[in-house]
Amino acid sequence: MKRRDFLTLSAGAAAFSILPKARRVNAASANLPVPYDRNAEVPMGDKKAFIEWMVTNRGEDPQYLAQRFERFQVMVANKDVLDDRNKRAFLFTPREEFVLPQNMARAYDHAFLDIGYGVTISGPHLVGRMTTAIDVQFGDSVLEVGTGSGYQSAYLSNLTDKVHTIEIIDPLATRTRGIYDGLVARGYSSIGAIASKSADGYYGWDGVGAFDKIIVTCGIDHIPPSLLQQLKPNGIMVIPVGPPGAQHVLKVIKQQQSDGSFNIVRSDIYNGKVVPFVPFTKLEGSQIVGTHNG
Ligand SMILES: C[S@@+](CC[C@H](N)C(=O)[O-])C[C@H]1O[C@@H](n2cnc3c(N)ncnc32)[C@H](O)[C@@H]1O
Repeated sequence: MKRRDFLTLSAGAAAFSILPKARRVNAASANLPVPYDRNAEVPMGDKKAFIEWMVTNRGEDPQYLAQRFERFQVMVANKDVLDDRNKRAFLFTPREEFVLPQNMARAYDHAFLDIGYGVTISGPHLVGRMTTAIDVQFGDSVLEVGTGSGYQSAYLSNLTDKVHTIEIIDPLATRTRGIYDGLVARGYSSIGAIASKSADGYYGWDGVGAFDKIIVTCGIDHIPPSLLQQLKPNGIMVIPVGPPGAQHVLKVIKQQQSDGSFNIVRSDIYNGKVVPFVPFTKLEGSQIVGTHNG
């Protein structure tokens, strides 16, 4: 199948895909009762107040809202989300929209879940911790490698208005684009900020300028040189690095020195804990063949 860019063209609150809509995974839900407001403050200290606010403003299901808030409390206790912007982004992202119908009851489990095509949606704790590590500011241009379900990029779209995401499995990229488009049509206008494409993310995304932040959600044994090159001076990347199934999640800062050279500073966001990721695979022609490991 031919690989394509699924860019969205935003026009005010609306966004239009240049592709026909793909099948939505979950049953259609109601439109947002109140227009999305990037600056809206959601109650974070009390489950009942959170659910009431979200039902009024987002029209979401109280059952999932309760699970989202309970997961949020555990993530805050475990320091997976640290700042208010990330806390709000987590609380604003309806994870139940991105899991397979058979896994909806487990959407907020502390677990990765199958999303088909042999890959997974990362657990909420991991998404929260990796995103918190790159410290996304509003206006930052962010690249995600490994769109998968689309949950991570939807979370990012609550932090900034410039999100680019690449998925190597073409039918998965198409399915996820359909989920984004369906959500935008229902009023989740932040998701209109996500540009997606089906490609091998090892080479980054040329032609859109360097990125302030990069998040890689598949595991590899080295940092792809193109990704480092496409990171702005003093930009931050988070990437699982290590042998198959045994990566360490690294925060990588491309620190610019006074003489203009770069110092690549690495730290482990889990202090040495091994976190297994799906492999960073490789595209040859239109076929996925092996991985980019050396
Ligand atoms: C852990 S999963 C998805 C996590 C995802 N961020 C989410 O929110 O669901 C990692 C994804 O990386 C994709 N992937 C693997 N190698 C890739 C590559 N070279 N380029 C782009 N995506 C890749 C996989 O197909 C898979 O969908």
